[in-house]
Amino acid sequence: MPQFQAPRGVSDILPSDQPYWRWLRDTAARVAANFGYAEIQTPVFEHAGVFIRPGAEGTDLVDKEVYRFEDRGGDDLVLRPEGTAAVCRAYLEHGMQNLPQPVRLFYISSFFRYDRPQAGRYRMFYQFGAEAIGDGEPAVDAEVIDLLRSFFDALGLTGYRLLLNSIGDQNCRPAYIEKLRAYYADKLDRLCADCRARYVTNPLRLLDCKNEPCQPFKADAPKIADNLCDACAEHFATVKSLLEGLGIEYTIVPTLVRGLDYYTRTAFEFEPAADGGQQSALGGGGRYDGLIEQLGGKPTPGIGFGAGIERLILNLKRQELGPPELPRLNAYIAIADPAAQVRAVQVADALRRANVSVVAGAASRSLRAQLRHANQLNARHALVIGSEELASGTVNLRDLETSEQESLPLEAVVLRLSH
Ligand code: HAM
Repeated sequence: MPQFQAPRGVSDILPSDQPYWRWLRDTAARVAANFGYAEIQTPVFEHAGVFIRPGAEGTDLVDKEVYRFEDRGGDDLVLRPEGTAAVCRAYLEHGMQNLPQPVRLFYISSFFRYDRPQAGRYRMFYQFGAEAIGDGEPAVDAEVIDLLRSFFDALGLTGYRLLLNSIGDQNCRPAYIEKLRAYYADKLDRLCADCRARYVTNPLRLLDCKNEPCQPFKADAPKIADNLCDACAEHFATVKSLLEGLGIEYTIVPTLVRGLDYYTRTAFEFEPAADGGQQSALGGGGRYDGLIEQLGGKPTPGIGFGAGIERLILNLKRQELGPPELPRLNAYIAIADPAAQVRAVQVADALRRANVSVVAGAASRSLRAQLRHANQLNARHALVIGSEELASGTVNLRDLETSEQESLPLEAVVLRLSH
């Protein structure tokens, strides 16, 4: 056992997995750019109030999962548990309401939640997220869903499902919440302990409780989609017809209410083909028309999503999908005579300037050991430099696939390997 291991729920992303990460990052950035979304990066920590807002209490994120600390200057800070509130804070701080609306932003960032770690659920994880702020039109809802769908398609992912709901707004939700409370009032003693608390603090979450005792009551619970005001109902109908126009299939799930406090109207999640168990959403999001106001801005609508990169990689591997092959190491320089050390670094430098990948061997190791190392690194060529090559001003170029070899001047080697 080494003295230290990474803390529970966080992990290293090792070189073997980096091609997946690069592939996802590049694909996300390309698809986002195709939709006109510009990249934003917000800080890893924020003032606690950005996330711990009145109204956000009663969510697991704030009550149980947030990493909160006081810094040495006494500021109350949190490690960002999600991206939306941080992006909205930046939108206000930088006067983005003066830009043409909506402002379309995306991010690929790390987030921190004191969650119970398991496959696909970590305490530090990454999301590809997008936010469109400043336009309440249903067309933006469809656009954001289409963006996430296009990202999955660009990776080749298949079999995922879009789950959709509308959870109303401040006009229609209060009356619905009362109906929900009335429905659950005589069932409280049969609910799980979490739900008895939720009944008071956040009754919507009664609907998506995963605990066994609460399951029998869901089917007959009043459905929010049946209790929308006219404006929300019309908005939802237009979102659905736009999705149909785009050929995006969806399943209406009346119990889909999302875990964060700020959602209004459209709420959605993408579920993977083979559901790896609970909490396996590939991504989710929705509209948050009240959030900017909660952060001190003028009423401003917004919608977005976050998709978990680790979960996506798990699902891509499950479907045997992988990144395009990385270019292999082009050349390994084997130093056959310690006197050739300087020449070796000069050759390496000349090749790298011509964009040829090169690893240089160690003069202290035998030529045999260096050539074995070249094979272990899967190098395409070995360049051997010994006393003979030093004397003749050449490099011995060996093709490690065909075993052919010839001695050539450096310029000829550069020309050969860079084409
Ligand atoms: P969320 O549903 O909390 O939404 O997270 C979005 C996605 O992040 C999840 O669907 C999942 O793929 C991934 N995720 C969440 N928690 C973990 C975890 N502990 N380990 C690994 N992956 C995880 C949000 O965060 C919202 N900010 C999304 C949004 C953007 N809504 C509007 N705009």
